[in-house]
Amino acid sequence: MKITTTAAVAGTALLPAFAAGAAELNLICSADVVICEKLVTEFERAHSDIGVNMVRLSSGEAYAKIRAEARNPQTDLWWGGTGDPHLQAAADGLTVEYQSPRLSELHDWAVAQAETSGHRTVGVYSGALGWGYNTRIFEAKGLEEPACWADLLNPDLQGEIQMADPNSSGTAYTALATLVQLMGEDEAFDYLKQLNANVAQYTKSGSAPVRAAGRGEAGLGIVFMHDAVAQTVEGFPIRTIAPCEGTGYEVGSMSLVEGGPNPDEAVVFYDWVLGAEVQDLMPEAGSYQLPSNKAAVASEHAPDLGQVKLIDYDFAEYGSSDRRRALLARWDSEIGGRATD
Ligand code: G6P
Repeated sequence: MKITTTAAVAGTALLPAFAAGAAELNLICSADVVICEKLVTEFERAHSDIGVNMVRLSSGEAYAKIRAEARNPQTDLWWGGTGDPHLQAAADGLTVEYQSPRLSELHDWAVAQAETSGHRTVGVYSGALGWGYNTRIFEAKGLEEPACWADLLNPDLQGEIQMADPNSSGTAYTALATLVQLMGEDEAFDYLKQLNANVAQYTKSGSAPVRAAGRGEAGLGIVFMHDAVAQTVEGFPIRTIAPCEGTGYEVGSMSLVEGGPNPDEAVVFYDWVLGAEVQDLMPEAGSYQLPSNKAAVASEHAPDLGQVKLIDYDFAEYGSSDRRRALLARWDSEIGGRATD
């Protein structure tokens, strides 16, 4: 995704700067790789003087990379992925306080995310947690539609379920934190231990489980509902469920990395990507989250969160460094499922 010198210098007075090295931006993208690539392509088209180096990492992995690089930051901007690790990075002082001129264009939930972090992160999209199951597999095996979290413990589902590892995946951490908020911590870990009997695989990335279900390699994937819907839109026999007891949601977020090598270019991308026209590109890339800009239009495929029983997810608590670290440590010692992909 690097720019060519010709494109960069054409008709500009910036030749000496480009001759010395084109402007660059190092981006970690934690949403689906298709939207990540689309954003980079569109940004480079709109800002032909900046070349983007992009890497796709799951939310927990992105946090770990930014933390590991703290003494010598390589990353400028972290776009997408669930909000909790962005909040943890903010609390750790790994990200920069910044208020975009576009802040007033955003929905309250996106601004609330910024305020929770002291303006070190901001909401870029939102979506609710649920699951998608393969209707053909369920029919062939005579399995009933699982409508509630409790139904996922049915012994008939042994080996049918996939979810991600909450250490690497923000989706799976959202599931863990959701269950803790719904049931209480000890009860949630009891539940997860029982669920473990039905889980065939813990994946690294959050949406991988429902892709596997789409391909018929698993019966059901615990994922964000918009990731399940994306499989249906692609033609796979996936039905999306919002759990009957209630469920959590993400405020997908964006943060500028403290000490990153290209802070000016990072701000250009940050302000650009909050625009309604840019957020309107998401459905074209099969991303059906709710956009954070009030003027952006949610896709007809975006799950209607008005129909979902949402919990009052405590982002400040579950995005805090202490809580996230403690929950992941307990997951490691009591469940210990390790990502296998
Ligand atoms: C998918 C979803 C995003 C979410 C992301 C988290 O890409 O579409 O809405 O933010 O997963 O990824 P992770 O791999 O960290 O669970």
